[in-house]
Amino acid sequence: MAKVRNWQIGREMEYPFAEARPERQFAAVFDLNKCIGCQTCTMACKTTWTVGKGQEYMLWNNVETKPYGGYPMGWDVRILEKLGPQSWEGAKYAGKTVFEAAPAGQNVLGHMKEDLDWAHSNAGEDEAAGTLDKGAHLTMPTHDLWFFYLPRICMHCTYPACLAACPRQAIYKRPEDGIVLVDQTRCRGYRECVTACPYGKVLFNPVLRISQKCIGCYPAVEQGMQPRCVTTCIGKIRLMGFLSKPNEVKPQVPMDFLVHVRKLALPLYPQLGLEGNIYYIPPVNAPKEFLRQMFGPGVDHAVDSYLKGKDDPELLGLLHLFGDTKEIIETFKVFPGSQEAAAYDKKGREIVRVPFKEPDYLRPFYDAERQVYRHNIS
Ligand code: SF4
Ligand code: F3S
Repeated sequence: MAKVRNWQIGREMEYPFAEARPERQFAAVFDLNKCIGCQTCTMACKTTWTVGKGQEYMLWNNVETKPYGGYPMGWDVRILEKLGPQSWEGAKYAGKTVFEAAPAGQNVLGHMKEDLDWAHSNAGEDEAAGTLDKGAHLTMPTHDLWFFYLPRICMHCTYPACLAACPRQAIYKRPEDGIVLVDQTRCRGYRECVTACPYGKVLFNPVLRISQKCIGCYPAVEQGMQPRCVTTCIGKIRLMGFLSKPNEVKPQVPMDFLVHVRKLALPLYPQLGLEGNIYYIPPVNAPKEFLRQMFGPGVDHAVDSYLKGKDDPELLGLLHLFGDTKEIIETFKVFPGSQEAAAYDKKGREIVRVPFKEPDYLRPFYDAERQVYRHNIS
């Protein structure tokens, strides 16, 4: 195995191939404080990409409820149990990744997902942890009774386990944008990728007898547009963009700003070692111990920064740009004086400009001109 640098675990690790980072990496940030679990993203993806034969149970995008939900069933609990102790020394991960813990003769520690695991995508939905007993009351920002929605797509990992495991080398990572694809003509259905991906994001098509997965809506991305799950999101929780190499961070690039500069958006289970590129703003009302296991040691800083976001104009401005344009935002700029944030495309053209606060329009309770009373005056 080669030695590669994984910034998310703060150290080098073993991987079957040498480090080969793309020019810039397809990435996205999902704000879990805003997700309402409406599954619009799920349906947008389903109706766009997985309406074919053999794709009946296939969701490239899913939204599960934590702590009890999971698609495929128990995907995270099962791999975490197999991985063993996962301690951190500060920002450095002291345990083993799925590559370092691989059984002899294999590249990845994984687990095979069975048909039944894919059959109930919404099991555990809206089930809360804890009970609200008589006389108990909610306290903020964290409280005993909690759940949150976790929307998931392929992480388009820097070190994909699916790619590492395929004996046919049928999976590849595009050098221009880091999107990970299954070559449908090379795949022979060995399903090592399904076993290897700890996130459960490669799915087997039993009719075509090949594996398929999220393609990052690359036909849209190539046209400078954000993916379907992002542009259709009702809660405006998502922003897709490109992440620079870790040593070439540019603060005016939205993904770099959220991930590397403000460190507000965190990787999902960084201890697995894949350096996934879908990042999450953690929910502020869930217990920190749970969040630390899920998003790593950066949780406390991220939650603090989010709660203080209203005093950070640059952050506030960028968060307002989520869900406001279908185009990919290459750079952004905030104007604290006029309380506005603007987004620019790759030619530097302004795509959209939004105010920090939507103006209020109040109409009179009694409209003399129409001689009517209004119940809703705003
Ligand atoms: Fe492959 Fe899974 Fe990573 Fe996607 S999330 S690139 S399917 S290992
Ligand atoms: Fe390889 Fe997975 Fe196909 S292991 S052959 S890409 S099913």
